[in-house]
This record gives sequence, structure tokens and C-alpha cells, in this order.
Amino acid sequence: MAEHPPYPVGLRLTGRRVVVLGGGQVAQRRLPALIAAGADIVLVSPEATPSVEAMADAGEITWERRPYEEGDLADAWYALIATSDPEANSRASAEAEANRVWCVRSDDADAATAWTPATGHSEGVTVAVLTTEARGRDPRHTAAIRDAVVEGLRDGTLVAPHHRTRTPGVALVGGGPGDPDLITVRGRRLLAEADVVIADRLGPRDLLAELPPHVHVIDAAKIPYGRFMAQEAINNALIEHAKQGKSVVRLKGGDPYVFGRGMEEVQALAEAGIPCTVVPGISSSISVPGAAGIPVTHRGVAHEFTVVSGHVAPDDERSLVDWPSLARLTGTLVILMGVDKIGKIAEALVAHGKAPDTPVALVQEGTTAAQRRVDATLATVAETVREKDVKPPAVIVIGEVVTVGPRPVE
Ligand SMILES: C[S@@+](CC[C@H](N)C(=O)[O-])C[C@H]1O[C@@H](n2cnc3c(N)ncnc32)[C@H](O)[C@@H]1O
Repeated sequence: MAEHPPYPVGLRLTGRRVVVLGGGQVAQRRLPALIAAGADIVLVSPEATPSVEAMADAGEITWERRPYEEGDLADAWYALIATSDPEANSRASAEAEANRVWCVRSDDADAATAWTPATGHSEGVTVAVLTTEARGRDPRHTAAIRDAVVEGLRDGTLVAPHHRTRTPGVALVGGGPGDPDLITVRGRRLLAEADVVIADRLGPRDLLAELPPHVHVIDAAKIPYGRFMAQEAINNALIEHAKQGKSVVRLKGGDPYVFGRGMEEVQALAEAGIPCTVVPGISSSISVPGAAGIPVTHRGVAHEFTVVSGHVAPDDERSLVDWPSLARLTGTLVILMGVDKIGKIAEALVAHGKAPDTPVALVQEGTTAAQRRVDATLATVAETVREKDVKPPAVIVIGEVVTVGPRPVE
């Protein structure tokens, strides 16, 4: 038979019976997409992997615990044949052929009547990549093409100009702790679509260098604020640019709502009638300790972690933090913006009962090339910070979790 390329098509399987033979790795990989397509899935297999079994337990598929029998494909619209028995696979694909059921075979692409493409999704579009010949099929190559297309669409390096929907108004994007790879996919896409980016000093600054030259990048710290407060001036800049019909991204370090004044900007935009999207980010409070080998919780060590702002000292009347209660907690304390006040913070914790030898770690510029970790105890931390010249930005971790990981290599 002359070899023709396959004919690509999107099957609409909602409520339609799909029969899967075999409950191994192939089924495990293919079932989630069939479930997402809303298919009425019957799995026929004496055994299944724990993940496939969980899908049956959750009612996402119907599992008949037995080997394939003639007639199983009778009412199917589509079949996936993937048992470990080649003879059963052949009988099943003969039945599929006789009943005109499109069937994929994991063990013999030549004998199959359908092939599964490598698929990926981006913003309401499914990218499906198929090899055109059964012989010489190279699934890694098709997967690599799929990855390149999906990744390109997501990060904006592959632009589909006529169909691109730009998000109007302002997007408040949490940029993560600093490593440019730690922004979310959505954040990166919005950044790629932006006309104006107003960025904080913290966060993934390297991403700004990748922006095309027409993008107007504004350093939030340099917005002149004359008779306004700095935050008010930033709010005004966001509103002004959005009113000009620009796509504005407010790029912030970590997560916008963790000591990021995100809600103040959301409120100002709402008052001005400007649409606003908030994209969460990876907060430094968890990721920076993690990057330095410190888990904020650990089984048998810490069952809670508390994130605290240390920007005002415990004896400052503006402080909203209940330091005596924090001193009584047995879990982890994570302090942001606390380098300058760490001496007073440590004193207050010890005065209210925390052991002076409680371990402390300071992680400066976490997840960046300049990351540095300095260890101390509550008794020694003030002196250590001075001696080792620890500077903001740093996350301070207080508690036994500091010592559970392998010792950091200096
Ligand atoms: C104004 S707060 C913003 C926190 C941010 N919204 C978040 O979720 O990570 C700034 C503080 O976050 C911490 N921080 C942020 N990025 C950091 C990093 N890469 N390394 C160490 N500390 C960081 C420091 O304590 C810094 O003073």
C-alpha cells in the first residue's frame, strides 16, 4: 500500500464511548487528555498503575478488571489498544477494523488506523504535531517541535500577530524572587505583550533586557512623586498609561499580595475604572529559603510557618506584629525586610522566651547569581549581620528547619 500522510482531525469525544485496553504506562499517559475531552471511557485491563486506578476511584473512567474479549469495541467511537499481550492487541485491532472504530496501537503504529499527535495547549489553542510516516517515526522530534511552538507562544517569542488577544488595562504581575525562570507562564506572556512595563527593583530584572525596543520600561523607584507619596505616583502612572490605551504591566517582586502593596494598586485602578488582572508570583518568603536548602516546614520539626514583616522594630509603636506570641510558636518564622532590625527582633524573641541558640539563616539575593547564605543563632545574629555585612534584600529564617538540610557549601 502506498504510504500517504495521516489526515489530521480533532475528535469531539464528549459523552462518546472510548475503549482503552491495558492499564499500564501508555494508558496512564493518554487517559488525562481523554478525560479532559469528556469521553465516556471504559478501561479493560486486569491490572492498572496506581495513577490509572486513582482515575477509576475518582469516577473519571469505568474500569473492567479483566482481559480483552471479542466484542469490547462494539459500541466504541475510538479505541486505544495498549495491552502487554501482542496477540490480544492484534485481535482487538482486527475487531476495531471490522467495526470501523478508529484505533491507536501502542505496539504497532503500522497496524493502527489512528496516530496520537504530540499535543500542547496555549491560550485556547491546541498545538498537535504528527509525524507523516509510520516508519522512521521519531516521537522525541515531534515532542520537541510541539514544545518549541507552545513555549514560543507562551513566552511571546513566537508571535501570532493577527490573532493575539491583548489584555486591556493593567496586569499586576508577580515576577517571583529574581531568577527569570521563576516567573509564571502567564506573567511572562503578559510581559511579552506589554507596551509599558513599570518594574520594581526586586524581581526578575533580567527579563526586562529581553523586551523589544518599543516597550517603554519605567523604574518604579524613579517615578517622580513631588507632592504625592511614591505609591500614589506609581498608581497615577499606571492609570495614565492605561488611559492612553496601552497594555501596562506592573512587574513586582515575588507575589503582588505579599508585602507588595498589590491591593493598593488594584483599588486605585478600580476607582479609575481601569480593568486589572492580577497574576500571582512565587513569593520570596518560601522560595528564597528553599533556594538555600531550607524547607519552611519539615515533618517532625515544624508544622507551621509564619511570614512577618520586619520593617519596623518590635518596640516601634507602628508595629502590628505580636512578637510575644511569635516567640511562643514552635514553628518557623520567616522575616522579610528585616535585615536592619534583626538585632531588635532577636532581642524581643529571646526576651519573650525563645531560646537564644535557635538557629537563624539569612539568605541574601536568593535565586540570583549573587545568592548568599549566612547562618547564626538568635544570640549571635546581630553581630553576624554586621561582621558578614549582610545587606537587603534578604529573607531571614528562624527555627530548627534551618539545620535540617545538608550543610550549605560555602
Ligand atoms: C517589599 S517585600 C516584597 C516581597 C515580595 N512581594 C514577595 O512575595 O517575595 C521585599 C522583601 O522581600 C524579600 N526578598 C524579595 N526578593 C528577595 C530575594 N531574591 N532574596 C532575598 N530576599 C528577597 C526581602 O526580605 C525584601 O526586603
